[in-house]
Amino acid sequence: MSQLAVRFFARATFAAAMLGCVASSGFAQGEVNIYSYRQPQLINPLLEAFTKKTGIKTNIVYASAGLNERLAAESKNSPADLLFTVDAGRLSEAKDAGLTQPVKTDALLKAIPPTVRDPDFHWYGLTMRGRVVYASKERVKQDAITYEELADPKWKGKICTRSGQHVYNTSLFATMIANKGEAFTETWLKGLKNNLAHKPAGGDREQARDISSGKCDLAIGNTYYMALMQKNEKNPEQKEWAAAIKVLFPNANDRGTHVNISGMALAKNAPNKTNAIKLMEFLASDEAQKLYAEANNEYPVSSHVPPSAIVRSWGKLKADPLPLENIGKYRKRASELVDKVGYDAGPGS
Ligand SMILES: [Fe+2]
Repeated sequence: MSQLAVRFFARATFAAAMLGCVASSGFAQGEVNIYSYRQPQLINPLLEAFTKKTGIKTNIVYASAGLNERLAAESKNSPADLLFTVDAGRLSEAKDAGLTQPVKTDALLKAIPPTVRDPDFHWYGLTMRGRVVYASKERVKQDAITYEELADPKWKGKICTRSGQHVYNTSLFATMIANKGEAFTETWLKGLKNNLAHKPAGGDREQARDISSGKCDLAIGNTYYMALMQKNEKNPEQKEWAAAIKVLFPNANDRGTHVNISGMALAKNAPNKTNAIKLMEFLASDEAQKLYAEANNEYPVSSHVPPSAIVRSWGKLKADPLPLENIGKYRKRASELVDKVGYDAGPGS
């Protein structure tokens, strides 16, 4: 990260130093500066396509944590134009912290459905991931499930999940509050906790591993991890984890499966605002949606761009149409419930 950051700031400083002579010579210094929680290899092909089309250069700082804090600390002097991250919960956090600004253009509103963008236009989803159930092919006979059913005592000792406090889970639990109310969600969370095989640990892929080794029968995980496991040449054991599980799309027969997004927001003090909006519109275009969804194995937000072949191979996603702004509304409460029921202490606690 530090190497990238150094390069970014070298270029950003260079751009600032050049600004005077650029303005007087009549050329626009076309740049966009991006702070990204998404790995560069996922977005570089998109950025290259954008530069090829518009001549606008892109600079990217990637970090797995701390970019919001950095934006806040830099305040008005921040070189950042755009923030790329995952999860409506994180995008709402950036908005609530005053790090973003609204942007509303016809192209963005047309391309990105209202359910996956902020009602105040501070953030937009680009691709969607389903939070699905991984089920043992060998031991789970049923091919349909609901989130509600995960609290049924018939699954006692059979379910694995990552920490209840991870943003992927608090966002899911927030949508349960929005859909079914807080009292229901608390009882449900208790039931789910009591069905855990062991204390929550690891990421979504480790839950697939534990199904593969027989420690549990069901897990909650994001869709794209299936592709990351299925195609993992570096850690081929993950192919075996994926081979042991099937994807069940919860609530396919009623409200639909909880989806979350990878998305973008315009930084509050974006110095290259016009170029940043051009990049936002490019990323929302069908051409970029297709590229991005192929690279990250997620679902395009645009309904007329098909998901990749590997994503289609898991079955059809029917997304819960609940507006994702609800995640921002209820995530804090969801996190409090996770603590209240002692979810992360594991079963029997
Ligand atoms: Fe992830």
